Amino acid sequence: MTHGVTIAGTGSYVPEKIVTNDDLSKIVDTTDEWIVTRTGIKERRIAAENESSSDLATQAALKALEQSNTKAEDLELIIIATITPDTLTPSTAAYVQTNLGAHKAVAFDISAACAGFVYAMKIATNMINGGSVKNALIIGAEKLSCVTNWTDRTTCVLFGDGAGAAVLRPAEEGEGRILATDIGTDGTQTKILNIPGGGSACPTTPENIHENLATLTMSGKEVFKQAVTRMRDSANTVIERANLTPEDISLVIPHQANLRIIDAIADRLAVPNDRVFVNLHKYGNTSAAAIAIALDEANREGKIKKGENLVMVAFGAGLTWAAAAIEW
Ligand code: ACO
Repeated sequence: MTHGVTIAGTGSYVPEKIVTNDDLSKIVDTTDEWIVTRTGIKERRIAAENESSSDLATQAALKALEQSNTKAEDLELIIIATITPDTLTPSTAAYVQTNLGAHKAVAFDISAACAGFVYAMKIATNMINGGSVKNALIIGAEKLSCVTNWTDRTTCVLFGDGAGAAVLRPAEEGEGRILATDIGTDGTQTKILNIPGGGSACPTTPENIHENLATLTMSGKEVFKQAVTRMRDSANTVIERANLTPEDISLVIPHQANLRIIDAIADRLAVPNDRVFVNLHKYGNTSAAAIAIALDEANREGKIKKGENLVMVAFGAGLTWAAAAIEW
């Protein structure tokens, strides 16, 4: 008898170094007041030079393994969602497999930007439900500071580094479970949010290296509009698929990109603001790590109680979007 897939434990890790808005105002023409008013972000964490995405991921994973009482050697699957892999190949998941000693686990990365952690959740859930895997580790890990243009005030104030992880396994009777998931992509709008250089379409060369092409660019206003609509629709899809109504949702964990986007989504979902989890004032937008870190903090702060329903919803470059409804 199968009871679906449960989240057995969560973990997160952010680098020690804090960069405040005032710190940024010393390197680009901006102010704490502009950043807080337009985004809600007050500070972000920046990884050390010798700290890569796999290092952040490993720290988050160790905490999720500990909380779920899972031995690394019992893991059968590791999926890392990241747009800042340690190396283009092999995958960041391969490094993390070795760091953890998870020798039995098949390990690979996925690229779905800020929606990546929920994409990973859907893939792992399907593999567990299909019977091929029991213990799965999913991670969102980013070192966005290495793809940030630190001379562009319109983007550099938005991003930060960090990682979050969750261990998934088949649910026992009476345990919480993932009730519904939704993922989607619209590849017609790749230009409004991307890293144009550094890949096979536009490799970094001695001629273009000074143009900062391997950094995040964004049409902020267009992304804003798309984010609100896509996240509203995806959240509504999983609420409906799980046979819930907005009143049944105890906590919404949205992608942490901009407080105004989060407020707009809460409004459109008719969920009061005190049931929406926000931590972007501390970390900024950490892409695939954002929802994973938020899930772990909400869990460890006791913001989700056993039996309550939670909705996670994310949006990112691709465009990609994803949502999950979970009974805790
Ligand atoms: N400090 C001071 N002024 C600034 C800054 C800054 N850091 N950045 C921009 N400005 C200026 C602009 O130059 C512009 O000046 P102008 O009117 O003289 O031309 C003015 O402020 C207004 O700029 P807008 O871009 O119109 O500001 P907006 O209110 O749209 O806010 C923002 C910009 C915060 C980026 C917003 O559009 C946004 O949050 N968009 C969505 C981001 C998002 O959701 N990303 C998610 C995915 S990220 C990923 O996948 C990795």
